[in-house]
Formats: sequence, structure tokens, C-alpha cells
Amino acid sequence: MNTIASKVSDIFKANYSSAPHLYYSPGRINFIGEHVDYNDGFVMPAAIDKGIYYAIALNNTNEINFHAVDFDEKLTVNIRDVKKMTGWKNYVLSVVNEFLIKGLEIKGFDCVFGGNIANGAGISSSAAVEGGLAFGINEIFKFGFSRKELALLCQRAEHNFPGVKTGIMDQYANMFGKKANVILLDCRSIEHQYFPLKLEGYEIALINTKVHHSLASSEYNVRRKQCEEGLEILKKELGINSFRDIKSPDELITSKNKMGEKVYDRCKYVVEEIIRTQEAAKLLQQNNLIEFGKLMFETHEGLSKLYEVSCKELDFLVEKAKENKDVIGARMMGGGFGGCTINIVKKESVQGFLAGATAAYKQKFNIEAEVIEVEIEDGTHAINI
Ligand code: GLA
Repeated sequence: MNTIASKVSDIFKANYSSAPHLYYSPGRINFIGEHVDYNDGFVMPAAIDKGIYYAIALNNTNEINFHAVDFDEKLTVNIRDVKKMTGWKNYVLSVVNEFLIKGLEIKGFDCVFGGNIANGAGISSSAAVEGGLAFGINEIFKFGFSRKELALLCQRAEHNFPGVKTGIMDQYANMFGKKANVILLDCRSIEHQYFPLKLEGYEIALINTKVHHSLASSEYNVRRKQCEEGLEILKKELGINSFRDIKSPDELITSKNKMGEKVYDRCKYVVEEIIRTQEAAKLLQQNNLIEFGKLMFETHEGLSKLYEVSCKELDFLVEKAKENKDVIGARMMGGGFGGCTINIVKKESVQGFLAGATAAYKQKFNIEAEVIEVEIEDGTHAINI
């Protein structure tokens, strides 16, 4: 058992009497396919070794006791009093609420959780919090939901109390991650395939800007709305059902005057990114990292200029990556407005690149960027004690 799992388990045992079940619930990276999961696109995430550990056991009462180790905070709620709150409480309570909405009987339980995943870093700590709890509840109450059902339940949980209308990517990667593999998820059919990631001679490096602009969740919902608005117009104009049906961004031009400039730009990005991700999937499966990396840079450009979810800190780090010939691809990752860049870098140049980019970042913004090392891991699972 690793040290965080032991810590969570020890805190549980020090506070509660029964033996807990232990779970690991990962965050994710995403190679390409950003902001298209809620637009019928494809995404290429992978679960990582940064996530949340849970210790859970029934307590024969009607109360749920949560202990969030990373926040050093506790919460006790009666099963009949599960309602919207703030911060981390919203994520766990919303998961419980989704089981209650289904009419399932939840009894009291004790739950300690904590991890090694940075908040607001774009590696989906929220899906890790949701997924671990949903998985644990499903097991201790023997509800028998499949991983796909749990991913969808967690997505609804995120929409409900936290109020962020996310796509399915994060919750899906959390449930379906596979060690050393990338998930190619079709977000229209919600089906996936795996392929092994072969980075021969290269490494993935994440740099956390350490900024998380407050716009993140409100602007996320605005983007979603703008895409819905654009799609409605395109359905009428082009007779299509989904962004997926548009084979080239040129097809959008005739509808440009029917929608505002911003909505047009959002739609253009989405159409380009769906096409790009399909191309990227082929390249990554053929181990053509050089061409794949070029598409990552293009994605960043689109996210920054057309979709407008980047920020000056992310743009700066991607510029630093572009200036280094050994960084073959880089872009912002996740929802945006802060968080991480993902970079593919020649092995022997990783340390030099990270040192140079973080030093330049410190000089420019007076912020110590954080390098996050990740390994690709399995999705949410029980840990043997
Ligand atoms: C967040 C959301 C995901 C996805 C990404 C952007 O991580 O939770 O559903 O939309 O942003 O790709």
C-alpha cells in the first residue's frame, strides 16, 4: 500500500471502529480532444497515478461522516438531509444524492478521503472525488452498477450540486483507465477502445501554471450553451444532427451570418477539433509522435483563439514549448482558464526544458510553476489491505 493509502486508512482506523474498504480513484490526462466530449466528439484521455484514496465502511446509523484529509475538514449529514452545500462537500453529497434520486436505500457510513492530486490543475480532481465515492457506495451497498453507469451517475452528480455541465470524459477515464493505455472514447456512442501508449524516446511532462481563474466553471457552461446555440442553427442550415456530421470547417461559412461571431468561432473550433482528434488517434496508434505533436499545438491555438478558454499563463508555457525543438507537441489540458499544459518532450531534454520553462515562467509571472510527473494507471479500483 502506498503512503497516502496508508495515511487515509490509519486516519479511518483512529476515528472509526469498523475495518474500512479501500479504493483508489484516479485523475486523468487528455492527449487530444478538448471541449468536444459534450459536442459528440472523440477524446483521448488516460487515468493517472495522481488521484484520491477512499476508506469507507458502513456504520449502522443514519448518518454519513465525511473526513476530507486534504482540507482537514469533516462533515456529518443525516441521510434524509443530503442537500447542496459548497466546495468539496458538494462533490461527495451530489454523488450520494444521485443514488438517492434513483430511489436506492443508502444507510449511514464513515468515509475518509485524501490524495495526491492538485485541485484546479486540469487533471480532474473532481472526477476522482466523485468516482471513488460512487464506486465505494456501489460496492458496500452491492448495487451492481456497471462502470459505465457509474461514470454517467458521476457526470450527473457534477451537473447537479456543483453545477458544472461537464461532458463525460473525466468520469469515463476515471472508471475505464487502463495501465499504460490510452482510451479513445467516442462521446456520441459512449464506447471506447484502448491502445498502448508507446512514447519511445519521448516523455509526457505536465506543467501546472498554479493559476485557476475563477471564470473556469461559469465560462465552461457558457461555452456549452454557445455550442448548443450554434448547433441548432447548423441543424437548420445544413440539415445535420451533430457536429460530427460536418466534414470540414468550410461547411460552416455559409451559416456564419446566421450566428454571432463568438458562436461561429466556437463551432469552428469544435468541428476542427473533432476532425483533428480522429486524425490524431490514427497517428498515435501508428506511433507517429512528430505529426501527432503538431496537432497538439494546433489544438492549443484553437482553444486559445477560437474557443477562448486559455489564459496568458498557459499561452506563455506553450510558447516556451514551441521555442524548444525537442518539445514536439504541447497544449493546455482540460477545461482551461489555468491548470496544466501537457508536453511531449524528447527524453534527454525533459529536465532542461522543464527547468528553462519554469524559470522563465517565474520571471514573467512571479509564480513557481509545478512540474507534475504522471504514470498511466488503471481506473478506480479496490485496494487490498
Ligand atoms: C473538463 C470537463 C470535461 C471536458 C474538459 C474539456 O475537464 O470535466 O468534460 O469537457 O473540461 O475537454
